[in-house]
Amino acid sequence: MTANPFGDEAAENETLLRLPSLPPFDPGDPVESAIISGLANSWPRRATVKRPEPDLDDLFDAEKDDYPVQLIPFHDDDRFRRLDEPTRARVLAWAWIAYNKNVMDVEQYVVNPGFRLLSQDAFGTGLGDILTVATLQAIVDEQYHTLMHLNASALTRRRRGWNLPERRLPYGPTVRGQRAAVAKADTPRESALVSLAFTTVAETSISSYLGLITGDENVQPVNRSTVVLHRRDEYCHASIAGELLKIVYERLGTDDRRILLAGLAVALEAFSANDFTTWTTVMDAEDVRDGGALVADAAHDTARRKLVQDCGVIRRLCDDLGVADEVPYEW
Ligand SMILES: [Fe+2]
Ligand SMILES: [Fe+2]
Repeated sequence: MTANPFGDEAAENETLLRLPSLPPFDPGDPVESAIISGLANSWPRRATVKRPEPDLDDLFDAEKDDYPVQLIPFHDDDRFRRLDEPTRARVLAWAWIAYNKNVMDVEQYVVNPGFRLLSQDAFGTGLGDILTVATLQAIVDEQYHTLMHLNASALTRRRRGWNLPERRLPYGPTVRGQRAAVAKADTPRESALVSLAFTTVAETSISSYLGLITGDENVQPVNRSTVVLHRRDEYCHASIAGELLKIVYERLGTDDRRILLAGLAVALEAFSANDFTTWTTVMDAEDVRDGGALVADAAHDTARRKLVQDCGVIRRLCDDLGVADEVPYEW
């Protein structure tokens, strides 16, 4: 456990998010990247999987909420405000279980499949050893993050004494969107490009998703700590995924580029969206009075469509490539 699990990592990690332009491509050399090389070499010292595990039980505070109330898309609706305290507390615990499930599903079904394609050099880019090592390290990180979030959900269930199984919940918008987009692909190549687009959006935006939880002091310390530790790795993954996208993009033909950029737009819509399907399931599970209408009214309000507001890293990446205008997305 680090001395201060809530330490602000932003300044320390700011340099990791800078994505310089590529050197000229020499087809005779394996592709390398100084940024990725530095991150691959520092992995044994910096990766959460390489650090001692925190004692989650020590950090549990039964008086705190399990999830930030303000993130609930209908938190200001009187039908929600009037819920009795036990129901409100269970809804917040469900929200945390759903958040963890979404993180785990995105890592298992969206991020790691994309990293796996890169580690196998599926785009014929000619990645050298160090870039391949970096993608395999990222896959290991994601496996560990999945375990961290499962442990966090298990702790919530055990300490609260509530049965809140994630198997009751549907897949979130990112997994649903990725599966739909891959299913629409006409060729394995197109499918791989779409997968890469989703992986890149997830990896460059997940820090914002994790950041939703870290700042609220009313929230369960063990939950915030889990997210802070995870986010530390994700600052590095954002740089790795961004660099890899640039490397691959520079070497694609026109049609492949168009498919990749279209995939980024679809992935951005999915990744940033509030998950009203899951909210409806939670309201059903708790038998909340007017729960269906509560969720449906929020879902119809366009101002409440987005949960993740900041996808600035992918925007800057597209600016660097000079393609922000070609991504069919309202930035
Ligand atoms: Fe992760
Ligand atoms: Fe990641």
